[in-house]
Amino acid sequence: MRILELFCGIGGVAEAVWGQPSLGRVVQAVDIDRQAALVYAANHPLRPTIATIESAASWRTRIAGWTADTWWLSPPCQPYCARGRQAPDDARRDALLQVIRMVAARPDWLPCRIALENVPAFEQSDDCSRLLSSLDAAGYQTNQQTLCPTQWGIPNRRQRFYLTAWRSTCKPPTIVPPPRPAAIPLARYLDRDHAADLFLDPGLQQKFAPGLDIVSPHGTDRPTSCFTAGYGKSIKQAGSYLAVAGRLRRFSHREVQRLLGYRDAFAWPSRYTHRQRWKMLGNSLSIGVVRQVLASLAVENQADIRR
Ligand SMILES: C[S@@+](CC[C@H](N)C(=O)[O-])C[C@H]1O[C@@H](n2cnc3c(N)ncnc32)[C@H](O)[C@@H]1O
Repeated sequence: MRILELFCGIGGVAEAVWGQPSLGRVVQAVDIDRQAALVYAANHPLRPTIATIESAASWRTRIAGWTADTWWLSPPCQPYCARGRQAPDDARRDALLQVIRMVAARPDWLPCRIALENVPAFEQSDDCSRLLSSLDAAGYQTNQQTLCPTQWGIPNRRQRFYLTAWRSTCKPPTIVPPPRPAAIPLARYLDRDHAADLFLDPGLQQKFAPGLDIVSPHGTDRPTSCFTAGYGKSIKQAGSYLAVAGRLRRFSHREVQRLLGYRDAFAWPSRYTHRQRWKMLGNSLSIGVVRQVLASLAVENQADIRR
């Protein structure tokens, strides 16, 4: 597959296909965030286009030149987090609305495969219904699933909604996680050494500990919670803490990166702080699950996919 990664951030899709040629390759990526694009370019042989998706009408020639046969979309999830009740005036919806208009009005621009990732509540939103109707009108068959890396034994919860679409007479296949995956021990994802500034201040620890999600480095019974873009900024409900000899510490960005499935060699510009790295990772994707979704789209016997 020749993939156009829209809303690419630091490149979760490029990371998923890294070293996996059977899943395809990313031919171009687009985002508005220059800092995330620098991380992308430090790890993959392409420099994302910095542009708003809303300006897509002006990329006609570029889209044709990229000759992607697959689009991956990870639009902002904030408008849908509160049970999909998106505020009509939330400007963070505009980019996805532009894609929906494009699907409806520009069938000649569209690839044979489209995938979208968002929070589970997106499925109940009006924007999801709009997207499904326009895909149907443009001749796509769709499949929708909510998946979590814990279904593959990975000790990190990150439940996400995945929509796959084929311009075909048959539906993309449903992904079936293994029935009884072995739980991978959390210890396998942890650093040997960690910076002292990852420890919570004892005062904060005493005040907030009852409301925190705390895991043991040696536990296998409970996965870590979802690391959000707010990890390191919000004390509560942004990700787990590790209990180490009576103290609580945050997970390092490398540990979060490993739990998401990134390579250890994934590089960061040295000037980026812990907080910036956590934020970009919190916005990113669970790489192992993305691989499953891409593999389901890449099934080869779809002879009737209209290219
Ligand atoms: C949920 S994150 C996706 C992150 C990405 N999948 C990754 O692996 O890092 C949403 C991304 O959309 C980008 N974005 C938000 N509004 C945009 C717009 N109007 N046009 C283009 N990109 C936008 C943000 O900068 C952010 O990187």
